[in-house]
Order: sequence, then structure tokens, then C-alpha cells
Amino acid sequence: MDRDERLSAADFPEDFRFGAATSAYQVEGAVGEDGRGPSIWDTFSHIPGKIRGADTGDVACDHYHRFRTDAALMRELGIRHYRFSIAWPRIIPDGVGRIEPRGLAFYDRLVDTLLEHEIRPFPTLFHWDLPQALEDRGGWRVRSTADAFARYADVVGRALGDRVDEFATHNEPWCAAVLGYQTGQHAPGARDRGSAVRAAHHLLYAHGLASQALRAAGVRQVGIVVNPKAVMPATDSADDIAAAAMVEARDNAWFLDPLFHARYPEAIAAETAAIDGLVQDADLGTVAQPIDFVGVNYYQPDVVRGVRGPGGLTALDATPKTRVTQMGWPVDATALGHLLGHLAATYTGSIPLYVTENGAAYEDRIDAGGEVDDPDRTQYLREHLAAVREAARAGVPVKGYYVWSLLDNFEWAEGYARRFGIVYTDPSRPELRIPKGSARWYRSFLQGAAVRP
Ligand code: FCB
Repeated sequence: MDRDERLSAADFPEDFRFGAATSAYQVEGAVGEDGRGPSIWDTFSHIPGKIRGADTGDVACDHYHRFRTDAALMRELGIRHYRFSIAWPRIIPDGVGRIEPRGLAFYDRLVDTLLEHEIRPFPTLFHWDLPQALEDRGGWRVRSTADAFARYADVVGRALGDRVDEFATHNEPWCAAVLGYQTGQHAPGARDRGSAVRAAHHLLYAHGLASQALRAAGVRQVGIVVNPKAVMPATDSADDIAAAAMVEARDNAWFLDPLFHARYPEAIAAETAAIDGLVQDADLGTVAQPIDFVGVNYYQPDVVRGVRGPGGLTALDATPKTRVTQMGWPVDATALGHLLGHLAATYTGSIPLYVTENGAAYEDRIDAGGEVDDPDRTQYLREHLAAVREAARAGVPVKGYYVWSLLDNFEWAEGYARRFGIVYTDPSRPELRIPKGSARWYRSFLQGAAVRP
């Protein structure tokens, strides 16, 4: 029997938390209910050509109406930690004005239901569903959005802080800035580097302001969820190493240096300096607030090769594509271990790290017996959990792991065509929930039983 086959929750430190994750726009549906305002994802998903299959989050998994069933299902699976996000446009429909009590009441019910099932709620304030009215005023390109976010954080912190110990401010600000404002793959669909640089700064600044607001509201634990690339040079040649360092500075240090060292890396500082008035005097001090945990989302490695041309060194993706998921993302669990170690050594020190998302999309089907067998996903989860266990044993303060995702859901530009859930869903049958083989495996793992998939 190899070591993986004995993998069980009992091999992790006692206080290690295991959970599952979702986000509001991806699962809730009910987009027009209880006073919710439109978000940039409502707008974007309804623009023809933006989303595979013209899918939208209008109904999604109907989690808004079915959260009780979903909480009971988690309980059955032994999942005691639930990471979800709060939809800003449910709380402050136009981003700045009226507070919607029915929106707050929904998250009240959700939190109470989770607690009744002994599931610890772990909300994220911003998982990309910016109120459309704020985008109409410039979105994350403008500073006032950060102020609006701080107010939203205050409102939510006061409403839920008596029962929720911990909040993450943002989910993956790199994606919100780059995919949303530079490549246009995500809402709001802008394609302009300057907008992305502005957005990144205001997201970071908003994190700082929101952290202060949450603490003032009495919230005990405040952190952020990031998606640093697990960058590795293809070989130990000088060019590959230099190219990997370029990617580190361009993508990872862009967010991590301000958060932990109150500065931008040189390459980014040159870009921010070129935008008049963007970074104001005290901003970076505000960004680098004390932080209680760091959430790390990890899916795939980034192996980098350096190629010299007339314009100097360029970094190219050289990740082996021998094993890939339905997204085409290469599978390599060892890179997760390296990433966690690297983060702790370079930025986070003894601050707890949680793997706030990890999982894989595969083409799942319901079989003749009505079951969904997904051995590839189980294998993926098992390898990554084993890598996390090794990192913990090596002394990295990693203290949690949340599977992405509890449910198959609206996978952004990929619509419903990419299934990440350990529970099968179908947007045309919103009542359907079929725990897959991977969910049964996770339950056995959580029970600490010796398991084979
Ligand atoms: C992450 C997102 C999450 C989900 C996964 C697959 O970047 O945070 O919402 O879409 O990717």
C-alpha cells in the first residue's frame, strides 16, 4: 500500500480545517430577488459571445433557495467548513446607496443554518460580482469604489460579525484586475493594461480599508484570498531562472509585495507611477494591514522558459501538458507544496495559510445507475491533499483546505460546460444534487478511514 492510499484527515494537525467552497454568482441564482441589484456578471453574461453556450448565472444552482439542503448535504458529507461569498449587490444594490435588509437577511439565514449544522461559515466579501452601478462610475478603475467597498464591509461586519469569526476581503484580485480589465475574458470585459493597473491598486487599497472596517466592526480574523502562480523555471539555466523571476514580479509580487511589504515591485511601480495620482502617500501603508490568514487558491503549476529575442528576455509557458483537466490545466500536486513553502518563506512567515480553493474540472456523466463516478477528480484531490500534508509536516503553517467546489456551478466564461463540483448539478434541473464518487471519497477521508477510491 503506498502512502497516498492511507491518506486520511487524521494525518493532519488537529486544528486543520477541511471544507468546501462556492461563490455567490456561481451558485445562488435568484438574481432578481429580494431587491438585489445587477452586478457586472449579470451584464457580462448576457452579452452574446462572452460565455460559452450563452450560459448565465440567472438560476445557477438555485443555492439562494436551496441553501438548507446544501448545508444538510455538507453535514452528511462530514464537511464542517464552508467558504462562500456574499453578493455585494444584494446588500447595497447600487453599491453606494440604500442597504437592502432582505439581502442581509439571506446571509443571516445562511449563517444560522450553517451553525445549526455545525459548519463554520467563512465568507468572502468580493468574489467578482461588483454592483453594475459602480462599474458605470468607473468600477475598480476609480478610487471611490474602494471607499464604497469599505462601507459594504462595515455593513456586513456589523450584521454577521457576532456569528462569523473570519472574513476574507477579496477573492483573487489578480483575476479581477487582469481578466476583468486587461484581457476582457471576465466582467466587465475591458481590454486595457492601464485600467488593470488602476483596478489592481484600488482592489488592494480597498482590501486595506475593508480590513480596518471589519476590525472596527468587531470581526476577529481578517484576511484575503490570492492566487499566486506556482512559478518554476523549466531548467536551471540563467535565462529560465530570470524568466521565472520576471513572472514572479509581474504576477505574484504585484499583489504580495504591497500586501506584505507595503511596496510595489519595480516593474509595477514604473507603471503605477505613470498614472497621475493613482498611488497616494499613505496608500501602501493602508494596503499592508495586519493580516490573520492568507487564502491560497491553487489549480496548476507554471513552468517558465526564458527566450532571448531582439526585445530582450521573454518568459514563455513551458508547463508539461501530459496530464491535464477538462480546463486544459496541467496537474501537478508537488507545485502546490512548493508554492506554500515559498509563500511562507518569502511573505507570510507564521501567518496561517489556508488552501481556499483546489479542485479540477472533468467531464462527468450520470451513469445508468444514476451515479456519477469521477475517479480522476478523486485522484486529483488525493494528490493535492497529500502535498498539503507534506507541507504541513515540513513545518509550513498551512491550516486548512477547501475543495473547489461543493457544487458544479457557473464557471465564469466557461459557463456550465466545466464541472468542478464534488456534487453533480444541472442548471436545467435546479433541484438536482448527486454526490459524486469524489464526494464519497472526501467523506471517507474526513472520517479518517483508510480509503481507496
Ligand atoms: C478560481 C475562482 C473560482 C473558480 C475556480 C475554478 O479562479 O476563484 O471562482 O472559478 O477558479
